[in-house]
Order: sequence, then structure tokens, then C-alpha cells
Amino acid sequence: MVRFRSQTVGGSMVTRIRGKELPLVRDGQASAHAFEAKCPHEQCDINYSSERQKIECPCHDGLFDLTGKVLSGPPPRPLETYQTIVDGERILVSVPE
Ligand code: FES
Repeated sequence: MVRFRSQTVGGSMVTRIRGKELPLVRDGQASAHAFEAKCPHEQCDINYSSERQKIECPCHDGLFDLTGKVLSGPPPRPLETYQTIVDGERILVSVPE
């Protein structure tokens, strides 16, 4: 479990845990999501779109919701996600060793 000072609701950040980039999105007072940074299609870097409130892959227009589910595009499987717990101003992220 790794702890972060949270961003504001609607905010996002990319941090690094155990050598791995990890995008975080806080979409509610008690809700946050953490993702694998690489698209499961061809390993491009994904981005969070605050306007669309979706995860986008710019390489081939892959689109994911905040649970990692593929909404459109060629990704063959969901984006890997990590368990998060919002604890006041902190976000706890469970990342396997
Ligand atoms: S690498 Fe992400 S959609 Fe192709």
C-alpha cells in the first residue's frame, strides 16, 4: 500500500511506484482510480481526459472508462487497475510487489 496526498476532486496525476508509472484519477470525494500506464493494445502511454472523464490511448484511439473497461478502439482487454482507498486527503494504492 502506497500513500499519496490527494489531488482535488476531478484531478489527476502520474506518479511512480516501484519503478512503474501509475496514473491516478480522483473522481469523487471518496473515489479514486489507479491504472497501469500502458495500453494493453500496443503498450502506448494512456492519458486521462478530464473533459471526457475517460482514459484515452492516443496511438489508435483506444478509450476506457474509469474502471478500465474498453469502450472503443482496438484494445483486446481492459486496462489493468489497482485498488485504491481514499482516506481524507490521502489516496492509498495497493500495488502488487
Ligand atoms: S496502443 Fe492503445 S489503442 Fe493501440
